[in-house]
Amino acid sequence: MPLLRRFWDSPSGTCSYLVGSDATRQAVFIDPVREQVPLYLGVLEELGLRLAGIIETHVHADHLTAADTLRRLTGATVVCGRQSGVEGADCLLADGDSLNFGDLAFQALSTPGHTPACLTYRWGDRLFTGDSLLISGCGRTDGPGGNAGMLFDSVTRRLLTQPDEYLVYPGHGSQQRWVSCIGEERRTNPMLLGVSRDEFIALASRRELPPLPARAETLAANRRCGRLPEEEAEAAPESAPIPDPEESK
Ligand SMILES: [Fe+2]
Repeated sequence: MPLLRRFWDSPSGTCSYLVGSDATRQAVFIDPVREQVPLYLGVLEELGLRLAGIIETHVHADHLTAADTLRRLTGATVVCGRQSGVEGADCLLADGDSLNFGDLAFQALSTPGHTPACLTYRWGDRLFTGDSLLISGCGRTDGPGGNAGMLFDSVTRRLLTQPDEYLVYPGHGSQQRWVSCIGEERRTNPMLLGVSRDEFIALASRRELPPLPARAETLAANRRCGRLPEEEAEAAPESAPIPDPEESK
């Protein structure tokens, strides 16, 4: 029996997910938030799970990822999109790639637009859509590299074409709603229902949104799996180039 838990980070409104296997006791975090690491570690221990993977849907602007912190504490593998520009990931995925942690199988779907390299991850009949497809909405496109036309194409061609019953687990909830399904979004999402590509682009540019939370330091750290500048310095001796054995003779 697989296991799924949702976590919510109040300051950023981020939804993170823990997927675990009863059979292997392996687990994977999707989009974990650094400030929540103590909670995550407690839940892993309580459930008797070993963290094997940390999967990022995109480079986040609204929170610091827990990827590197969790990797240091648990030895888990960090997985990011190949086009994301993230340095230091252990595994880079492109559209259609599959990734298994024991019996936990994920498939990456390229869904750019919120950022240039967003991935959605399919786990069985569940889709972790990050900030591409939200419940009754779509991610904002006014951040770094955002592109409303690209997001419309991603959502309509890659996500709304999935089976109706596939469940949607987004990177942010919507009015206390946390899970949806493809059929519901196709039938009711006001940003998509009967909306043309041009209309979607116009709609995206007219949206009244809170100021962008993006801080340059957050983005820069998230492009290094969440390592802060001071932690980069600490890690430097380990990452120093290995001397050429020929030269050291
Ligand atoms: Fe985002």
